Amino acid sequence: MTVCEAPGKVYLFGEHAVVYGEPAVPAAIERRAAVTAEPRADDHVRVEAEDLSLDGFTVEYSGGTDDRPDVDVPTPLVEAAMGYVDAAVRQARDAADAPDAGFDITVESDIPLGAGLGSSAAVVVAGIDAATRALGAPLDRRELADRAYRAEHDVQEGQASRADTFCSTMGGAVRVEGDDCEPVAAPNLPFVVGFDGGAGDTGKLVAGVGELREEYGFAADTIESVGDVVRTGEALLADAVPEGEPSPELLAELGELMDFNHGLLAALGVSARSLDSMVWAARDAGAHGAKLTGAGGGGCIVALDASDATETALSFTQGCEEAFRAELATEGVRVVEP
Ligand code: MEV
Repeated sequence: MTVCEAPGKVYLFGEHAVVYGEPAVPAAIERRAAVTAEPRADDHVRVEAEDLSLDGFTVEYSGGTDDRPDVDVPTPLVEAAMGYVDAAVRQARDAADAPDAGFDITVESDIPLGAGLGSSAAVVVAGIDAATRALGAPLDRRELADRAYRAEHDVQEGQASRADTFCSTMGGAVRVEGDDCEPVAAPNLPFVVGFDGGAGDTGKLVAGVGELREEYGFAADTIESVGDVVRTGEALLADAVPEGEPSPELLAELGELMDFNHGLLAALGVSARSLDSMVWAARDAGAHGAKLTGAGGGGCIVALDASDATETALSFTQGCEEAFRAELATEGVRVVEP
């Protein structure tokens, strides 16, 4: 039995625009998905999933992972969760040159599904790592990140960047621009997350931005402006003391850029009333800045505030189901049981 766990993430800057080659800076947070993989004697795959914002489910299927299991939880939720597990199994089989490998897989996650905190990337990264290790064919981190990206890319029908999967694999803050992915030094930023209890459909939201970009030059300009915000933000980070406490000036400037980034994402149609109201609650409480994180449409916002004020205000905000402080996860995917 091999268990690996990988962190979720928040986007400091750059979601959506990163799909079109602009840079993005996501940061891993200490909320993890743990995947257990136990090889089987046959070619079946049995998946037990808990805490994926579902009530939990168990499915078993054989042969091709295209066979759809018969379960009594809502199909779209199972499809969403299973699609990523399927893709991770396919990548692990391919990497280990074991096309008929079967597994008992258990997924336990404290990252809500589809909420902008990188749950699918964490499941895919931990899943490929656990399954390849269980087959005696562990991957180095760069290859693991690449295979996890390909898995997400397949599930999201070609519309995925490397940002979520690279960040979840490596941990810390990273910079992604097209195929260039590098860890970046970042101070200890005081992230506060607000979660509306819902989720967005990443595929649909990404496609919606793509349509706007095709239709309107100003939408394409908006995407480029997100890139400008990211470049300005990363220059600030580069001047900061790595891994130290951020100065008040740095927090103020990063916060201002986060506010700007949220406005641009809202213009691209990926915010939601609940996300806007959490963003404003955070700003009113004195956060340095706040923005939606991830694909949007519902899910989470991220704010910067070292005091308790934003977390407290969010916990009293209508539409906010959960507010919590998110620590930077300096370690990416890790083996819990070899
Ligand atoms: C989703 O977490 C982030 C998006 O930029 C899509 C992607 O990068 O694959 C919206």
